[in-house]
Amino acid sequence: MIYFVTSNRGKMEEARAMLGMELSQMDIGYPEIQADTLEEVVIFGMKDLAGRLDGPVMIEDAGLFVDALNGFPGVFSAYAQKTIGNAGILRLMEGAKDRGASFRSVVGYAEPGEEVRLFRGELRGKIAFAPRGEGGFGYDPIFEVGGITVAEMGLQDKNRISHRGQSIGAMREHLSGRT
Ligand code: IMP
Repeated sequence: MIYFVTSNRGKMEEARAMLGMELSQMDIGYPEIQADTLEEVVIFGMKDLAGRLDGPVMIEDAGLFVDALNGFPGVFSAYAQKTIGNAGILRLMEGAKDRGASFRSVVGYAEPGEEVRLFRGELRGKIAFAPRGEGGFGYDPIFEVGGITVAEMGLQDKNRISHRGQSIGAMREHLSGRT
């Protein structure tokens, strides 16, 4: 059994669909520092959690990186979602010809007393012109892949292609590769 420390139910559902029932959600919080990379945020969070739980622990940090906005909101994604929201991102993109963007995910995983392992994933797509779809969470309604937004996909389809599907898939591979 692995503790997934997160307060985000959407992430938890996606991770559980990837890993099965061996996951237990812990909403115990950890400092999310303002850093330049998702990796730094995850490593700092894992250091804070080390020793606080009696089993394997994972956390995940994700962000939306928009090409025309030089990677914004990136590591500021949670703050941007809370303040300007999807409507704010669409406003910043008004008139932008280049709609390219990435979702990125970094997972940190450690067993008690062991070093932290990082697993990454990236999904390339485009910023839509208007929000569409009811599924997913966060920026999903404004992020398009192959003509539909991630919020218009089912959870299984999202997991098959998404940044988080890749990072958690890599973690699953790592775990299944051990005896
Ligand atoms: P964090 O990883 O929880 O810090 O997420 C940063 C921000 O990106 C939050 O506002 C999330 O809602 C958003 N976010 C994270 N993952 C996804 C995703 O898979 N789809 C859409 N938005 C996401």
